[in-house]
Parts: sequence; C-alpha cells; structure tokens
Amino acid sequence: MLQRPRRNRKSAVIRDMIQETHLSASNLIFPLFIINGENQKEEVKSMPGIFRYSIDNLLREVESCMNLGLKAFDLFPAVEESLKDKYATESYREGTLYLRAIDAVKKNFPEACVITDVAMDPYSSDGHDGIVENGEILNDETLEVLGKMALAHAQKGADIIAPSDMMDGRIGYLRSVLDDNGFTNVSLMSYTAKYASAYYGPFRDALGSAPKKGDKKTYQMNPANSREALIEAQLDMEEGADFLMVKPGLPYLDVIKLLHDKFDLPIAAYNVSGEYAMLKAAIANGWLSEAVIMETLLSFRRAGATSILTYHAKEVIEKGWLK
Ligand code: PBG
Repeated sequence: MLQRPRRNRKSAVIRDMIQETHLSASNLIFPLFIINGENQKEEVKSMPGIFRYSIDNLLREVESCMNLGLKAFDLFPAVEESLKDKYATESYREGTLYLRAIDAVKKNFPEACVITDVAMDPYSSDGHDGIVENGEILNDETLEVLGKMALAHAQKGADIIAPSDMMDGRIGYLRSVLDDNGFTNVSLMSYTAKYASAYYGPFRDALGSAPKKGDKKTYQMNPANSREALIEAQLDMEEGADFLMVKPGLPYLDVIKLLHDKFDLPIAAYNVSGEYAMLKAAIANGWLSEAVIMETLLSFRRAGATSILTYHAKEVIEKGWLK
C-alpha cells in the first residue's frame, strides 16, 4: 500500500496540521431576543439556555459576549399582541422597543456589529411577513413597509440589515431606500434561500410570531428545491446584496455548497431554532454527547459558509471549544 491515509491521522499535531476548516469567534453571529420591560430575562421553553432580554439585560448580555470576543449580534423583538396591526406600523414607530434596543447597543458598544431583522411578522396581527389581503400576501405593497423599517434601523446605527421576509425585489428596493437616504455604508445580508421550514417552531414560540392563518409557502421556498436558490442568489447579487444566506442550515448544506461554488459573495448559514432545540433535547436526554454541537457548526464551514447565525455562539466560546 503506497497510500495509507491513516498516517495523516496518527497524532493530534498532524491531525491539527491538516485540518481544512476551522471555526473561530469571528465566524459567529449570535441571535438575541428582546422584550419590553425592565430587568427581564425569560428563558424560551423550547430553547434551553436562550432568553428574551429587556434592554438593560440585553446590554449586560452583549457586554459579556464582547468580552468573550463574540461581536456580531442579530436582534429579534417579541412584541405584545396589542401593538400588532395589519401593516406592522409598530416596526418603525419612533421609540419602539426594537429601535431603542439598536440605539442602546450601538451607543454602549460602538464596535459591536448590529444586524437587524427586516420582516413584518413580529409586528403583524396576521403573523405573516407581508401585508395580507383576502388571504394573499401582497408583494409590492409590503416593500414599502420593509423600506420604512430598514431606514429606521439604519438611522439608529444598524451595521447590517437582514431582510428575512422573502418578498420579490426587496434587496434592490432596500438598497435604493438606504442609498437615497445617505446610508450607502449599511450592508444587506439577504435571506436568499429561506425555506418554508418546520424548523422555525421554537423561534415562533419565542416571539409569538406564528401565522394566524395559513402557512408561508407562497413566499418561502419549497424544501424540495435547490435550483430555485440559484435564481434567488442571482437576483440578490444583481440587486446589491453583500451576503447571501441559506436558512435553515443543517438540512440545506447542499444549498450552502451550491451558492458557495457559484457566487463570490460571502455565504451565511442560519442554524435555526429547531436545529438548536433538537441537539439540546438529545443532549439533555443523554442520547447524544455535546460534541455534536461543534461537529454541526464545522459542517457549515466545510459546506462553504463564512458566517453562522447560531444560538450556540456564546456557549461554544465559553466552553473553550474554539481553541
Ligand atoms: C421571520 C423569521 C423567522 C426566523 C427568522 N426570521 C421565522 C419564520 O419565517 O417564520 C426563524 C429563525 C429561527 O428559527 O431560529 N421573518
């Protein structure tokens, strides 16, 4: 035998020497849930170790992450039912929770990278990512709402705006709204290939944002398709996206790889709430060891993701697994 691949596995030093992909804190984006009130910290039932924070506690959490070298955050608001309406007007109202949170994080931690979520669902009385009329999701009318939301985020200092709504044409529309208002430096991280997935369940519990009627299949993608992701990616490129995202992550590693191979923009993977819940449940039951967490995160890097949005972000650093 001339080739004995096991020679390259014979010691820890050699295994490390030939390791092709790595994970570091700079690859990680930490999603954080926020709620109104003071001194609130409520655990999300289906996501052990993940909390909804009021702004004061959010700042404490951001500080502790920054001290660990985790510096990119994606914020999501839990909005009271009484503040929701058909047009998600609460999303851009001056003084609203979300805008105060962006402002507070950027003022206290100017070097933090704040990524904001643009979509109507947390603020919509219909629980959809677009305006609902006669059971249909209106595309172009929704863009106007998304534009107001994105502009409000930029005005509070958002570094990257991440539209998760899946309306057609939103990247081009948001790019022009931002540029026309002088925010040419605010980036767009597009949820390029966002699938109509059952893995979002715990997130919808966390925010109380599940659709009141119907599902999201007329705007989110069919899990059976990958070629459609190429069309979405091509459009996002042409419309001015700075990052392409694939969501969920683990069941769509092939799509991450596909976009990585065909497009030169950085690729982000969203390791979503259901993926987190799945591992945590198996670990809590003793059915899987904690090692599955790093194995999972490394798989995104191997598939070609530069950034990983993951609820495991803080714990993998705290536990010293990145060294
Ligand atoms: C909605 C949105 C969702 C997530 C992020 N933004 C859920 C949905 O489309 O219903 C899910 C994130 C997760 O599950 O962790 N705009």
